[in-house]
Amino acid sequence: MEKSMTPSEKESKYALLVEQARALVENELDEIANMANVAALIHDTFHFWWTGFYRVVGDDLVLGPFQGPIACTRIGKGRGVCGAARERRETIVVPDVELFPGHIACSSASRSEIVVPVFDQSGNVKAVLDIDSEFLSTFDDTDRRYLEQIAILFK
Ligand code: SME
Repeated sequence: MEKSMTPSEKESKYALLVEQARALVENELDEIANMANVAALIHDTFHFWWTGFYRVVGDDLVLGPFQGPIACTRIGKGRGVCGAARERRETIVVPDVELFPGHIACSSASRSEIVVPVFDQSGNVKAVLDIDSEFLSTFDDTDRRYLEQIAILFK
């Protein structure tokens, strides 16, 4: 990830990113294809360590489209940051993964992360968008605000 980005550069990259994501998904109904392109778009814009989706399949979160190194395939109910975001039905920003009880270390390089729930039309969590960084304290309210706008595109 580029460490040298100013808050206003980040803000304008995200503003453009949301519009690009909207354009990518609005004419395609296949959700997996849309998740794949959106993961690639976010990853390519910010060069995070890992960017991807886990989909709710029964009790578990199952690995979906992603960019980055190989990751845990299946995350049980309530486990890790992803499971916690699913259970709490809200975005979780973790500045230091070592301080998050139950964090699942898919990679020891991951130092901070953000997990955003993706809701369906009935308000059920159908997936989570998980982004990991190799730096501490990467994610803030700007990430939260824009990534939640991206999650809404999958409603
Ligand atoms: N960090 C996540 C697990 C998934 S990977 O990092 C890609 C968690 O604790 O939920």
